[in-house]
Amino acid sequence: MPALATVIVQASPGAIEQAKSALAAGGLVAFPTETVYGLGADATNDSAVAKLYAAKERPSFNPLIAHVADLAAAHRLAQFDAEALKLAKALWPGPLTLVLPKLHDCSVGPLATAGLDTIAMRVPGHPVARDILAAFGNPVVAPSANRSGRVSPTSARHVQADLAGRIDLIVDGGASPVGVESTILACLGRTMLLRPGAIPRATVEQLLGRDIGTAAIGVDATARPVAPGMLASHYAPHAALRMNAVTVAPGEALLAFGPTLPRDASNARTILNLSDRGELVEAAANLFNYLRILDGSAISSIAVMPIPDEDIGEAINDRLRHAAAPRHPRGSTAGGGLDTLRPGIIA
Ligand code: TXA
Ligand code: MG
Repeated sequence: MPALATVIVQASPGAIEQAKSALAAGGLVAFPTETVYGLGADATNDSAVAKLYAAKERPSFNPLIAHVADLAAAHRLAQFDAEALKLAKALWPGPLTLVLPKLHDCSVGPLATAGLDTIAMRVPGHPVARDILAAFGNPVVAPSANRSGRVSPTSARHVQADLAGRIDLIVDGGASPVGVESTILACLGRTMLLRPGAIPRATVEQLLGRDIGTAAIGVDATARPVAPGMLASHYAPHAALRMNAVTVAPGEALLAFGPTLPRDASNARTILNLSDRGELVEAAANLFNYLRILDGSAISSIAVMPIPDEDIGEAINDRLRHAAAPRHPRGSTAGGGLDTLRPGIIA
């Protein structure tokens, strides 16, 4: 792949125009969303989508989310049942992704949806993302703007670290305020949670008036993953990571949460506190940045204090479980097969 001169621009009306032109020319544009930075390509342009998979080194059986400006645009691509419509009307624009049946005349090609007859759709709430989508007009596929196997980016600097030379443009709109990816629901009959995320499960359950299940892990009749992003650990930090730590071993890094640290916290080589006040929303916003900082240090083990598994804490724990999962050397097939599908998605 020839190196591209990746341009970084501060968000402005001129930057929106640059993003629009680059997308129209089949280019790759990273831009902020309220959850994490996305790497955008014209969803209707197969060669742009192919370039996107290559830039991320993402396996092409892992489908992409199509981002659109509003519900009307989503209606042109996918079929909404009553629950999907209710959720979209209540929570869009926002950090919610709906997996829906793809319409027959959907302009998003099979490469973007990995040959599935469903499509993941999202209307983001971040003003820069909204301006780009409104200016461009076509749907934009946008996975998190990280190299596959890295943690999702919450700043333009993170995107630059992973993708400089591989993409055309980075629009810098400051830190992504939420910090973990969208909640993904499948609305294909009975609404199911595919990925815990920025919108708490309880919010969805209140709207629907019932509990939602978590999608069964496995493959469908065509032997495709039911939720392809549920593959085994994608984010593989250099350091080992252990969750629910109540003690700290000498030389470990401590990823703390809340005002009360473990009694032996002084053993830690480094301490980063996700939220001194013990607030989950603040912890989510700091999570990926702190994981990147610790990953860039010479630390060999990270002890993570317990995080309550409620509200956005469910998504934080999901991402930490992926980071803690046993990993395999790059290129090894062990552990990458369908038999190791597990809940949660980082990709
Ligand atoms: O917050 C977010 O959702 C961010 C921002 C940029 O919008 N995007 C994001 O995209 O997290 P990505 O590609 O990193 O994760 C999307 C996940 C993938 O793991 C993929 O497997 C799953 O969504 N997905 C996409 N289409 C699907 C489909 N038709 N059925 C089931 N899962 C799907
Ligand atoms: Mg991702």
